Amino acid sequence: MSDRQLATSIAVGKVVLGWFRLLDDPGAMLIRPSQAIDPYPHYERIRARGKVVPSKLGMLLVSDHELCSAVLRDPAFGVAPNKEMGQPDLGMDGLVNPLEDSFIFRNPPEHSRLRRVVSPLFTPRAMHERQARIEAVVEDFLDQLAGRDEFDLVGEFAARVPIKIICDLLGVPDAEHRRMIDWGTTLAASIDGMGSMAQVRELRATLRELNDFLSARIALRRAEPNDDVIGHMLAEGDLTEFELLATSGLLLAAGFETTVNLIGNGVLALLSNPSVRQRLVDDPAAADNIVEEILRLDPPIQYTARLPLSDDARIAGRVVPKGRAVVLLTAAANRDPSVFPDPHRFDPDRHNARDHLTFSSGVHYCLGAGLARMEGAIALRALFRRFPDLRLGGTVQRRASRAVRGPLRLPVRVTSRQPAAIA
Ligand code: HEM
Repeated sequence: MSDRQLATSIAVGKVVLGWFRLLDDPGAMLIRPSQAIDPYPHYERIRARGKVVPSKLGMLLVSDHELCSAVLRDPAFGVAPNKEMGQPDLGMDGLVNPLEDSFIFRNPPEHSRLRRVVSPLFTPRAMHERQARIEAVVEDFLDQLAGRDEFDLVGEFAARVPIKIICDLLGVPDAEHRRMIDWGTTLAASIDGMGSMAQVRELRATLRELNDFLSARIALRRAEPNDDVIGHMLAEGDLTEFELLATSGLLLAAGFETTVNLIGNGVLALLSNPSVRQRLVDDPAAADNIVEEILRLDPPIQYTARLPLSDDARIAGRVVPKGRAVVLLTAAANRDPSVFPDPHRFDPDRHNARDHLTFSSGVHYCLGAGLARMEGAIALRALFRRFPDLRLGGTVQRRASRAVRGPLRLPVRVTSRQPAAIA
């Protein structure tokens, strides 16, 4: 497809979307990015229409927890890159897009072969060994904020922690972190589809830079082997250059574009729930369930999608025709009242908070879930311990995405304290 055809296709897509929004189509309401919109009332409207709701845009929307979970675990359904979901071909000229070309968008057996290469790096034991390092990174960034009265919690803390951790894993030097943030923001925004040719061009430029950068890292690791993630992939797996680029790019993007929002959404939730915030600081044992409740109530990834792989793919006993995309509204499933009583309430003692679908389910269950949970708990506890009076300091700016949810800018104020003198 030429750029001219692509521009036309994007423009037509916008008109069609606008038209279906006017008709109150539930699918169209999900797609168009708008940071102003609170998605949760919209999910409730979809839930009120039924467990499986067709959109005139061709997809089926599922908000029911049991059905979302069943589809995610069912081998009759699989993932498919955007182009197979009916999105226009973006003409990426052989560039590797980690969010399209990696194993997150591959079905078994290819998926299993690729995932198996990196999964040993994310075992509970491997995570446990990283705990002290994460605590040190968090304390270091908080030290750098000492003496400040106000700062942007996302740019100056929430984004820095996961970037540092994932870059450590991949052996990426600190000097490159700024570029990572920019690349990650562009990639995450692309999940919602392209809104303009300017966005397409930005994505191409980002992928070109990211591909060059990762190729250079891979070449360096070939010359100087070590045990970072790229070194591990080279030693363990029989991966092609394309697969190496896609897998390392996936870990990079998935490793921080999500966790930054867990921390950001967590801060917002705790600011609205002062007693929970106090408990987080006072009772280390409560931190894990509080993080689960944050993940349940305000997930960084709001939905995912699957396509039927066989003629017999069914939801609730009814066949789903081939080519019909199924959108699993995991953020809505997390508030399914039949699973989570009083679902909109932040309940730090909710016994089944961990049953949320924020990390998906089935073969694509998030590989970094353990790492994200640990980073979230360590970062939030340390932040509120260090700044007990942390409060909002301005207007929160949200990400312009429906699929990825979290603050882009979160100005906060604190009363910095001098460290207590040694008695
Ligand atoms: C709060 C933070 C995180 C959230 C909410 C999150 C969410 C998700 C979701 C929903 C999926 C599956 C998508 C689907 O089923 O279609 C996924 C997959 C994945 N995530 Fe995460 N993620 C987080 C953090 C991380 C971290 C820290 C890493 C570390 C590198 C990571 C790496 C991955 C990978 C590699 C996959 C692909 C798994 C597969 O396809 O087998 N994620 N994540």
